[in-house]
Amino acid sequence: MPISVYNRTWILETEHSAYVFGLNRAGMLVNCFWGNRLPARHDYPEPPDSSGWASFDGPAQCLPEEYPCYGGMSYHEPCLKACFADGVRDVRLSFQSASQADAEHLVLHLHDPYYPLAVDLHYRLHPQCDILERWAELRNEGNAIIQVERALSAAWQLPGPSAQRLSHLSGRWNDEFNLHRQPLTPGVFQLESRRMSSSHQHNPWFALDNGSATEESGQVWFGLLSWSGSWKLLAETTPFSSTRLLIGLNDWDFCWQLHPGETFTCPVSLAGYTQNGFGAASRLLHTHLRTQLPHAPALHKVLYNSWEATLFDVSAEGQAKLAEIAAQLGVERFVMDDGWFLGRHHDAAGLGDWKPDPTKFPHGLTPLIRRVHDLGMDFGLWLEPEMVNPNSDLYRAHPDWVLHYPTRPRTTARNQLMLNLARPDVQEYLIQSLSSLLSENDIAFIKWDMNRNVSEAGWPDAPGDPRQVWVEYTRGVYHVWNTLRTRFPNIVWQSCSGGGGRADAGILHLADQIWPSDNTSALARLRIQEGFSQAYPANTMEAWVTDADRHQLSLDFRFHVSMCGSLGIGGNLLAWSTAERLTAARHIARYKAIRPIVQLGDLYRLRSFAADGNPALLYLDQDRAHGVLFAFCTRADNPAAPTPISIRLQGLLPDGLYMMESQPLARSGASWMQQGLTLPLKPGESLLLQIERV
Ligand code: DGJ
Repeated sequence: MPISVYNRTWILETEHSAYVFGLNRAGMLVNCFWGNRLPARHDYPEPPDSSGWASFDGPAQCLPEEYPCYGGMSYHEPCLKACFADGVRDVRLSFQSASQADAEHLVLHLHDPYYPLAVDLHYRLHPQCDILERWAELRNEGNAIIQVERALSAAWQLPGPSAQRLSHLSGRWNDEFNLHRQPLTPGVFQLESRRMSSSHQHNPWFALDNGSATEESGQVWFGLLSWSGSWKLLAETTPFSSTRLLIGLNDWDFCWQLHPGETFTCPVSLAGYTQNGFGAASRLLHTHLRTQLPHAPALHKVLYNSWEATLFDVSAEGQAKLAEIAAQLGVERFVMDDGWFLGRHHDAAGLGDWKPDPTKFPHGLTPLIRRVHDLGMDFGLWLEPEMVNPNSDLYRAHPDWVLHYPTRPRTTARNQLMLNLARPDVQEYLIQSLSSLLSENDIAFIKWDMNRNVSEAGWPDAPGDPRQVWVEYTRGVYHVWNTLRTRFPNIVWQSCSGGGGRADAGILHLADQIWPSDNTSALARLRIQEGFSQAYPANTMEAWVTDADRHQLSLDFRFHVSMCGSLGIGGNLLAWSTAERLTAARHIARYKAIRPIVQLGDLYRLRSFAADGNPALLYLDQDRAHGVLFAFCTRADNPAAPTPISIRLQGLLPDGLYMMESQPLARSGASWMQQGLTLPLKPGESLLLQIERV
């Protein structure tokens, strides 16, 4: 039984971990335990009690509350802050009852003792991946509006000394997914996005440890927020030896009018625990994201994307020429990027008018799509549905459809404005126009881009508080995308926001893949991919071989980097020599053979790029029978001499006998993992070696 009740506690157990909380003697809902699963129910601690610390800190300050509210004597960051119709801004929640939606889904029903505010706390377990999902639902059971000023998804409570280092991913456009590990000192550390997307700047992923966890060992608590709009993470260490991490919707510039009878559902915050280090934490997230999303993981085709080759200089003939070479290389999907639609000769026109430009495609897209099909590939297309150029028919017809304040200039970025997807008429327009495009053309893949962040987040004729736009916009994106996904179930979707500006677990409910960065330099990608892989699995990571680094790094090296994810090609194939095309064809054929292991296997980061520039990665299939090892050298004390790169494998069956390509003898898994092997590589060299259990 994954969920059991014992002595005023709820015990939530996954395969290896347990999360326990309960009602203390004062009736407060407090966390008791989050760690390795224990043999007996009575092994878990009882709910802690406290009468406070002198007259300055009440019990709420001293105890790990499951869902702290702003009310009473509370000074820590709360999950919930609200104002009732009579102006009272003090929220108290008392336990009413608990119910189970199913064997793995517990709901605790809480209620304000005076006001008609009900809060349901949801806990849903994914036992095989050691993952727990949490979210809150607020319900107004009265007759007057309740103003909700903050509604976070969850407070994750941790024993202080064991969780005083926070790992997170930060960056900027072209430079996403930098991994930071930093000690938490007294006070509140905040990460957030105010951009109406999850953002390049910070990713809604976290890991906590005591400062000594490594890739292979140590306790790690980790998690994600499943939301693609503005979000907030607050990590607070308290004077009472605890760490609390709160995560959810950003309350900056936020207010939600909770109407009588209305329910407000917070996004899912998911988290897990492992005692086996950061590598195991990533693998649990990967397994969860690969297996628990609404769409089953399919093997992604090798695609070609035309963007870096043509930019806006798109024509039917030019695309066909690229497609012919792509097909010769073994590419399976040809994707036409930006530049194909009405008036799109540069980035200052066309967004919003999702019809082929007649000067570029006088007979529509069909002739090109047929040509691509004849070449044995399927066809994909780039869209940026949320955007509009002022120079477009759509904007001329509906200038009020963008986010704006009537009294302020509308700030353009890349010459574009953001449609207000909170508006049902905008959602409907997009659903209709994109449905026409997708039903009139045989399209197998869509890259959904978003090339700017919000400004003037105004919604002049909003039905409620205009600040609800922060939530309604993202819900609008989800609604449009989900409707299209349901109508066109065979399309594969990619999320892109100028690279990795919207890479999150929420978008992965809609998108099969993510474009992690516009930076396609293989050296930069080694770092970006290492950061991306902390949270997201290889099958979601689209990786192109382009012409970046063409004169610095071999095509072999660049292919090996991209083969660590879902392989694509993005270079100008017309300029590739015969030798380069032959090399590419060889790698693409090889990738097709190993892609089930890379895309659906477990990833072991054997050596870190961040540590010394010489990373090694192992992908292992679920049976631990087939693996692929990638090793890269980018730095050496003496660039002229090979650097001995020593690698210890992980994840093999210790008693299994394994043969590694290029190595003379089969050895036990234990030997590969303890003694490992040494590969002599010079800077700029890489290796891909398959390993098989014999
Ligand atoms: C940004 C994307 O990340 C690129 O790959 C490309 O699609 C451009 N937008 C097109 O405008």
